[in-house]
Amino acid sequence: MRSAKYPKLFEAGMIGNLMVKNRVVMPPMATNFAGPFGEVTERLIRYYAERAKGGTGLIIVENVQVKYPEGKNIACQLRLDEDKYIPGYQELAEAVQWYGAKVFIQIHHAGRQYHNIEGAEGVAPSAIPCGFLQRPVRELTTQEIWDLIERFSETALRGKKAGMDGVEFHGAHGYLIGQFVSPHTNQRIDEWGGTLDRRLRFPLEIIRRTREKVGSDFPICFRMSVDEFVPGGLTLEDSKTIARKLESAGINVLHVSCGIYESMPKILEPMHYEEGWRVYLAEAIKKAVKIPVITVGQIRTPAMAEQILKEGKADFVALGRTLIADPEWPNKAREGRELEIRKCISCNIGCIGGHVFGDLYMRCTVNPMVGHERLEGWVDLKPAEKKKTVMVIGGGPGGMEAARIAALRGHEVTLYEKEKELGGQQRIASRGPGKSKLNFIREYYHHQLPRVGAKIELGKEADKKLIEKIKPDVLILATGAEPLLPDITGISGKNVLMSWEVLAGKAKVPGKTVVIAGGGLVGCETALHLAGQGKKVTIIEMLKELAMDMEPITRFDLLTEVLPKAGIQSITGKVIAEFSEKGVTVMDPLGKKSLVEAENVIIALGSKSLNPLEEKARELVQEVYVIGDAKEPRQIINATFEGASVARLI
Ligand SMILES: Cc1cc2nc3c(=O)[nH]c(=O)nc-3n(C[C@H](O)[C@H](O)[C@H](O)COP(=O)(O)OP(=O)(O)OC[C@H]3O[C@@H](n4cnc5c(N)ncnc54)[C@H](O)[C@@H]3O)c2cc1C
Ligand SMILES: Cc1cc2nc3c(=O)[nH]c(=O)nc-3n(C[C@H](O)[C@H](O)[C@H](O)COP(=O)(O)O)c2cc1C
Ligand code: SF4
Repeated sequence: MRSAKYPKLFEAGMIGNLMVKNRVVMPPMATNFAGPFGEVTERLIRYYAERAKGGTGLIIVENVQVKYPEGKNIACQLRLDEDKYIPGYQELAEAVQWYGAKVFIQIHHAGRQYHNIEGAEGVAPSAIPCGFLQRPVRELTTQEIWDLIERFSETALRGKKAGMDGVEFHGAHGYLIGQFVSPHTNQRIDEWGGTLDRRLRFPLEIIRRTREKVGSDFPICFRMSVDEFVPGGLTLEDSKTIARKLESAGINVLHVSCGIYESMPKILEPMHYEEGWRVYLAEAIKKAVKIPVITVGQIRTPAMAEQILKEGKADFVALGRTLIADPEWPNKAREGRELEIRKCISCNIGCIGGHVFGDLYMRCTVNPMVGHERLEGWVDLKPAEKKKTVMVIGGGPGGMEAARIAALRGHEVTLYEKEKELGGQQRIASRGPGKSKLNFIREYYHHQLPRVGAKIELGKEADKKLIEKIKPDVLILATGAEPLLPDITGISGKNVLMSWEVLAGKAKVPGKTVVIAGGGLVGCETALHLAGQGKKVTIIEMLKELAMDMEPITRFDLLTEVLPKAGIQSITGKVIAEFSEKGVTVMDPLGKKSLVEAENVIIALGSKSLNPLEEKARELVQEVYVIGDAKEPRQIINATFEGASVARLI
């Protein structure tokens, strides 16, 4: 189906002899939805079927192991190393193809970037541990290399038997195939290492054996990290040559990614990266080959996707987290319903860093449905049995999601927000450096709430009187949190300000030297904000390290790139003893005190729940729910999930 606004995006495209109905590709993304034995599950099928139903042209299913357990990189990873797994993939392929999408699987071996959850020993071309994981690894023998080549090709054949439309070899992100190709990880001196041709032998043998098994017509994609962004790693120039060699070997499409674990933020870029920042990589590869090229990374809007295709920078556009956040993105874009799209904010909290890499199943900060597609009442909302009046207090992410779902189910909903704008803490958080994408959340609800019939009362602080007056059937308390002010000497001094106020632009910081009390996420972001104004900033944190409450990939980026570039100093492992006009007195674990001089001190010492209405409300209303930070200060994902859950109950 065509689109007048995005003609290129919704034009059919060819991969070898396979026709894909549009140019939207879902790239492989591990979910932890596989069963504990690596089998396809109903949950996994429903998750992918939802993305196919949403209009995606080609789905490349997440990474599938060729050798268990040493080949795995996440806790519950798919396997297809034995024939007994084939029927599961058959069902998966049929579920996706039913909606007119094409489906590939990604074939993978982790190499040195392995998960040691099963106690397996890591293997790699050379015995060089990954700098990020620091797990022991041993060099593969020649016999083992040939065995793996057979396994990759057999897995491809099993995929074909299961009815997959094609396969992708995972040659990117520093996993086994990439480890062979890269001089950074392959320091062998035999026929599998040394020159580029010898380093390429492993993937080329895999492709040769696969072609022998699957025939010349079966589509094969190759995913590559064309720039590894590490010293001594693959560069874009190397990758142009590699791409041409892969094309000659019979690859039908190249999937251009970048980075390895040691440069993780380049694979899974945090929020501050610009939309489409790495399209230049695909563009360069496209110029080097004749086969189609897929681009990927931080593509969030249909306009950006269309522009990339129109300018001929790539043939297909892969939308990863974009499609986790909104499986209906393609249909909404095609139908001109862009404002209805739930845009991914690139937080990595719900999906990768905070969940899949933490041995938890995939979720999503902005879309609480992720992982629950198979549960009754989640995808297909059940209309309310009895229409109730629902009062929601608090227009942060929790209250907004609760109001949306309750209204969609047919309840009469009014949301009260004391500020003049929706958003809650997100309004403050989005003012931190590189965090403007958080505004996507507010923009979405701002458009959606009136559309679904939820009334919004802005600038209205709800109290006991109002609850008494309205007498709702259901009351949802989503009043959020407020900053914590510990009882420390000098905390109410004139030179002491609150981080929330500073970020919100409500408090000006006059001094040139500033100490931030508290080195968690909020403290670090406030430090960056002030360093950006030319202040000399020092963070004081009692834990041994900064930003321990932050999602790990964003944190890695913060500690290795962002903070050092901003010239921010930090003192860790010391507690604050006193604030004064001179600055902050800190105490080390042995009780030794010292003064850190500063003109201003900014408090970022955490937050506490704000829930003053619950007790009285329970006397007045039969059904009362407390959600989000009002229950316990946490993150947006908890607020949206609790809002979505409670609104499905009432
Ligand atoms: C600087 C900063 C950065 C952050 N960064 C992130 C991040 O990157 N990722 C992340 O996941 N989380 C982040 N958080 C935390 C996140 O914003 C909160 O966890 C989340 O907003 C909680 O949502 P909520 O709906 O429960 O409450 P809130 O967002 O606090 O919303 C509560 C709302 O209720 C309103 N309200 C309170 N009392 C009343 C009343 N009586 N009547 C009417 N209205 C009332 C308030 O005005 C507010 O708008 C950050 C927080 C801060 C402060
Ligand atoms: C939860 C999650 C799991 C991922 N797993 C894989 C994977 O199995 N194989 C792979 O090649 N890339 C994987 N990726 C990377 C994505 O395919 C994609 O390249 C990356 O997310 C950048 O694109 P985006 O900004 O559109 O999300 C994963 C990403 C996420 C968020
Ligand atoms: S959890 Fe965050 S990064 Fe992941 S898809 Fe959802 S919004 Fe995007």
